Amino acid sequence: MGLRPLRIRDAVAWREVRLRNADWLRPWEPTNPEAPLFRTGLGPYLAMTNTLRREARHGSALPWVVTYEGRFAGQLTVGTIVWGSARAGQVGYWVDEALAGRGITPTALALAVDYCFFVVGLHRIEANIRPENVASRRVVEKLGFREEGIRRRHLHINGAWRDHLCYAVTVEDAPEGLMARWRRAAGSPVANAPDWAVSPEVASGGVPYRAVPRSAKVTHPPEVPRPMWTGDG
Ligand SMILES: CC(C)(COP(=O)(O)OP(=O)(O)OC[C@H]1O[C@@H](n2cnc3c(N)ncnc32)[C@H](O)[C@@H]1OP(=O)(O)O)[C@@H](O)C(=O)NCCC(=O)NCCS
Repeated sequence: MGLRPLRIRDAVAWREVRLRNADWLRPWEPTNPEAPLFRTGLGPYLAMTNTLRREARHGSALPWVVTYEGRFAGQLTVGTIVWGSARAGQVGYWVDEALAGRGITPTALALAVDYCFFVVGLHRIEANIRPENVASRRVVEKLGFREEGIRRRHLHINGAWRDHLCYAVTVEDAPEGLMARWRRAAGSPVANAPDWAVSPEVASGGVPYRAVPRSAKVTHPPEVPRPMWTGDG
C-alpha cells in the first residue's frame, strides 16, 4: 500500500469508489450541514481537492490518497494543523469497503504519523471518532493511541452534531515511530509487505519517506509539505 498526494486526476477513481461506498461512509463521514455528501458530478471532488491543496500550501493540511496494489483505495488527511506552541493535527481516513479488514488503514496511519512527527515536525496527532465506530476505534487502539475523553457534538455527520471520542498520540509516546511498533505487533500482511518503504510516496514531489534524525532542526513553518503541491495536475 502507499500514501501519495491527492491529485486532480484522481477525480474519476474517487467518484467511482465514493458512489459505490456511499452507504459504507455515510454514518461516519463529516458533512457540511448545508450541502449533500454524495453527488454524481465531479464538482465536489474538485472543490474538496482545491480546498485541501490550498490548506496544504499553507501548512495546515496533509491530504493523501491511500493506494493498494497501485490503485485508489481511500483517503487519509491530517488536517486542522496548528503550529506555534501546539504543533498538532487531526487525522481523518476512509477505505473502500471492498478492501476493509486487511490492515490498510492502520498501516497508512502509522506511515502518516511517522511522517508528521519525524519529517514535518508535528508533536501531537488526534483522531476524533464516534463511539459507535468500532472499526475506526480499533485502528487507533491497535497503534497505541490514548483515549482522552469525549468531545460533545464535535462534528456534523449524517444530519446531526455527533459526540466523538478523542484519541491522541504524541511523539514521546512513540520515540521509535508507529510503523516500527505496528510491524512488530501486527503480523499484518500489509504492514509486513516488503514494498511499503519504497512505494508509499508519502512526501512525493520526489521526497521519499524518511525519518529525519531527531537532532535535525525542523523548520517552522514546515518546508517539507510544499513540494507536494507543485507541478501536480
Ligand atoms: C475505519 C476504517 C477506515 C478501517 O479501515 P481498515 O483498513 O479496514 O482497518 P483494519 O483492517 O485495521 O480493520 C479495523 C477493524 O475493522 C473491522 N473489520 C475487519 N474486517 C472488516 C470488514 N471486512 N468489513 C468491515 N469491518 C471490518 C474489525 O473490527 C477490525 O478490527 P480488528 O483488526 O481488531 O479485527 C474502515 O472501516 C472505513 O473506511 N470505515 C468507513 C469510514 C470510517 O469510519 N472512517 C473513519 C471515521 S473516524
